[in-house]
Amino acid sequence: TQPKLLAGRRVVITAGPTSEKIDPVRVITNRSSGKTGYAIARAAHEAGAQVVLVSGPTALPAPHGVRRVDVESAADMHAAVMAGARDADLFIAVAAVADWHVANASGNKLKKNASNQPPALQFAPNPDILAEVARLPDGPWCVGFAAETENLHEHAQAKRQRKGVPLLVGNLAQDSMGGDTTTFVLFDDQGIEELPKLSKTDAARRLIKAIAARLPRKA
Ligand code: C5P
Repeated sequence: TQPKLLAGRRVVITAGPTSEKIDPVRVITNRSSGKTGYAIARAAHEAGAQVVLVSGPTALPAPHGVRRVDVESAADMHAAVMAGARDADLFIAVAAVADWHVANASGNKLKKNASNQPPALQFAPNPDILAEVARLPDGPWCVGFAAETENLHEHAQAKRQRKGVPLLVGNLAQDSMGGDTTTFVLFDDQGIEELPKLSKTDAARRLIKAIAARLPRKA
């Protein structure tokens, strides 16, 4: 059995996509299976943590022993995270949060009209959940993710700085999306650590070890 590296720690994890309404039957979303976030939630639970998994819509069952809070939009995810973040020791933002929501979403189904003009959607930015939690005074230790399609190192280091988080995990979208394996690259103030290509279960366990080694001791 694994040592209980996160015994007594409270952890909030986001996973999956968010889903932003256009009208009652149409949404805008991101491609995310939720597999990486759920694997990390399972690994954190195995390591003895008390885990809240704030999940956008996925096809996955709730991991055993984890409290799952189901959300749809980025606004819902933001509210659910902020409700628990202050009391958490660790926040791991894995979700593929939509960058925008539809500001002029319709309460009724949009209908095709005679001229067949498509609707003019207006977008407004969503809150950056990770950046906001990272700024909380006495907030949790924060881990961010960056799924990139190219120039992973450059984008990930820049993102770590911009979000103000001590640890950022990069992966190549094309290596990881939807599948059961992933290759993590860890970026912190000491530099870069590349993990091998692993099953998401094993990658999650390695990440939890790496986090536990960096997490400040409880006061
Ligand atoms: O800004 P970008 O989406 O590239 O950053 C990715 C990281 O930020 C991920 O950890 C993601 O979960 C988090 N994020 C967030 N809220 C947003 C956008 C991204 O928490 N609105």
